[in-house]
Amino acid sequence: VGVKIGVIGVGMIGQYLVQTIKTSIPRADVVAVSDVIAREDAPRLTHAGALDLISDPEVEAVIVASPDATHEEYVLACLKAQKPVLCEKPLAPTAAACHRIVKAETAIGQRLVQVGYMRRFDPAYAALKVALDTRVAGEPLLLHCSHRSPGPSKNPSFDTILSNAAVHDIDAARWLLGEEIVRATVYLPRLSRGPLGPLVIVLGTESGVIIDLEVFVNARYGYEIGVEVMCEFGAVSLVTPTLVQLRYEGLIGSRVPLDPLTRFAAAYRQELESWVQVVNGGQPGGSSAWDGYAATSVAEACIESMSTGQPADVRLDMRAPLYA
Ligand SMILES: NC(=O)c1ccc[n+]([C@@H]2O[C@H](COP(=O)([O-])OP(=O)(O)OC[C@H]3O[C@@H](n4cnc5c(N)ncnc54)[C@H](O)[C@@H]3O)[C@@H](O)[C@H]2O)c1
Repeated sequence: VGVKIGVIGVGMIGQYLVQTIKTSIPRADVVAVSDVIAREDAPRLTHAGALDLISDPEVEAVIVASPDATHEEYVLACLKAQKPVLCEKPLAPTAAACHRIVKAETAIGQRLVQVGYMRRFDPAYAALKVALDTRVAGEPLLLHCSHRSPGPSKNPSFDTILSNAAVHDIDAARWLLGEEIVRATVYLPRLSRGPLGPLVIVLGTESGVIIDLEVFVNARYGYEIGVEVMCEFGAVSLVTPTLVQLRYEGLIGSRVPLDPLTRFAAAYRQELESWVQVVNGGQPGGSSAWDGYAATSVAEACIESMSTGQPADVRLDMRAPLYA
């Protein structure tokens, strides 16, 4: 018998994670499921309320895959029950809420929270991280990043694009560079005649690396994530995985994934596998509560910059030794 997992929220990503655990993760079982709606096409609900699921002694570890605004309450309940929790990103929609989680975890003195920033487990991102850590092309100077998905996006505003979508790229950039982001400026191009158009974020890190990031959640053509790091003696970039090239009707090219589940299938699987090992007593890995707090704090600085039209400083508390 494997780790007994309870899943809160079985919408799009919750169902995908349940399915991935069932088909691909040994030594783990989904024993409990809770949601506010019972749907025919979703796993059968075992608990009416998320808090009942968390306090059920049968449940050893919890996945929170409900909407962003519910994360804080459920993660804090998991900490109170001293149960490991994999919380989907963002840790919470505001830095203040994330900070309350960091404080609660620090008070316990044990890392129980992992945030679902699964890109850290993607093979291409992992190879990029090794190239940067070993300084193959010298010190990193600039990161050019893009985050495009076909839409139509569920995000109703630029603010939620920042707090819900851009946080993925922010977490990845902090992790790749191994340092904090201290400043954010957001630029909006002319408005699109369709749904919400792209925005451009410029971030500065402690050591002075500059990151430019395009986030376009209604890009129509596909789901594509780009990172190119310009270093002192060369550039290192992420290559979108592809197996075949197509020549057809005067075009040459390859397929672009249409959603994150296709592009990051290996990453989600690896994230779950690694988390199950942590629950079984392994070293904590992936994105911590601190990382979740830092990513949301940067997103909040972006939101501030968008409203003032000026650069905004990222305000972070002192990092506790628990997250060294
Ligand atoms: N890591 C990733 O790449 C990734 C991808 C997609 C979504 N997410 C995150 O996962 C979360 C869910 O996103 P989604 O796209 O699956 O949304 P969704 O709307 O498809 O699913 C959310 C589910 O939560 C349920 N729910 C609503 N309120 C609830 C509550 N109070 N308690 C319990 N369940 C509740 C809904 O009924 C629904 O079934 C979000 O926080 C989102 O940011 C992460």
